[in-house]
Amino acid sequence: MFTIHLIETPEEMHLVEELQRDVWPGSETDVVPLHMLITTVHNGGLVLGAFENEKIIGFVFGFPGLETTPDGPRPKHCSHMMGVHPDHRDDGIGFALKRAQWQMVRHQGLDHITWTYDPLLSRNAYLNIAKLGAVCATYRQSEYGDMRDGLNVGLPSDRFQLDWWINTRRVEKRLSKRPRPTLKWNQVAKSGMRPFYAVDSSTGIPRPPEHVPPFDDRLLLAEIPADFMTLKEKDFPLARDWRFFTRELFETAFAKNYIVTDFVLDKNNSVSRGFYVLTHGESTLDQFE
Ligand SMILES: CC(C)(COP(=O)(O)OP(=O)(O)OC[C@H]1O[C@@H](n2cnc3c(N)ncnc32)[C@H](O)[C@@H]1OP(=O)(O)O)[C@@H](O)C(=O)NCCC(=O)NCCS
Repeated sequence: MFTIHLIETPEEMHLVEELQRDVWPGSETDVVPLHMLITTVHNGGLVLGAFENEKIIGFVFGFPGLETTPDGPRPKHCSHMMGVHPDHRDDGIGFALKRAQWQMVRHQGLDHITWTYDPLLSRNAYLNIAKLGAVCATYRQSEYGDMRDGLNVGLPSDRFQLDWWINTRRVEKRLSKRPRPTLKWNQVAKSGMRPFYAVDSSTGIPRPPEHVPPFDDRLLLAEIPADFMTLKEKDFPLARDWRFFTRELFETAFAKNYIVTDFVLDKNNSVSRGFYVLTHGESTLDQFE
């Protein structure tokens, strides 16, 4: 059992510094320091912690920001970091932290939260898009330059920038007490949708095609590796191939007005597989809602 509360004191902020070292090991420079976290929360920012028996096991940190729109600058919440201790992953803590952030930011009167993540991380994709209902139409090449921490070192730090429209039915349905179930592979299979490129898994490690094939269907299924971190450890050049293949794929798709609207897992085989669902234009996946 864990509980979630707002963190505002220097003593508890110190625990957040410590937890960052466990989640992103290896680069002291990249730890957001206590004084910065405190200043942020004294100025509209939010640091939420998940605790088990007074031990911190997860946190999410963000602050108010401005986005540029045709009507001028508009306030939003910029969610900068979320981390769950490696021993406590996949227990729903990340979801619960984002749900608490959603409640707090709505209370502040804002309707938009953005954050970035590596689009090759299947767990993050499933949590952010399928479970939380964020969408993506923005690809950022090498967003943070060459990163130094243990999770990110070595590859260009390309990121999806997500839009989480927190007052929409799409998001409310996913975060309600009885949440809408995530999209299932058999629903996708029944609809007749097929992946628009083939991933070669004959060696046991998924390999992308050399180039993105042409596409124009209204809905697209785009596969990524189910476990990119292990793939990166086993075959670093292949991880680079995946980075550049998916960069070409998403940049092309977003330029053609596709939006990433869902993420679906195929767990029917011995190896589980993960697919982004891209939708053309403004529409959402009505048939699956
Ligand atoms: C990303 C992170 C914060 C998520 O926290 P978490 O507590 O593990 O997340 P949750 O348990 O709420 O949700 C994870 C979901 O992904 C699923 N999942 C696990 N592995 C998966 C995979 N390889 N592919 C797809 N989904 C996967 C889990 O089953 C779970 O779904 P479920 O609750 O329906 O079973 C955490 O994994 C983490 O700290 N990662 C390292 C740092 C990071 O990437 N931070 C985010 C960017 S700043």
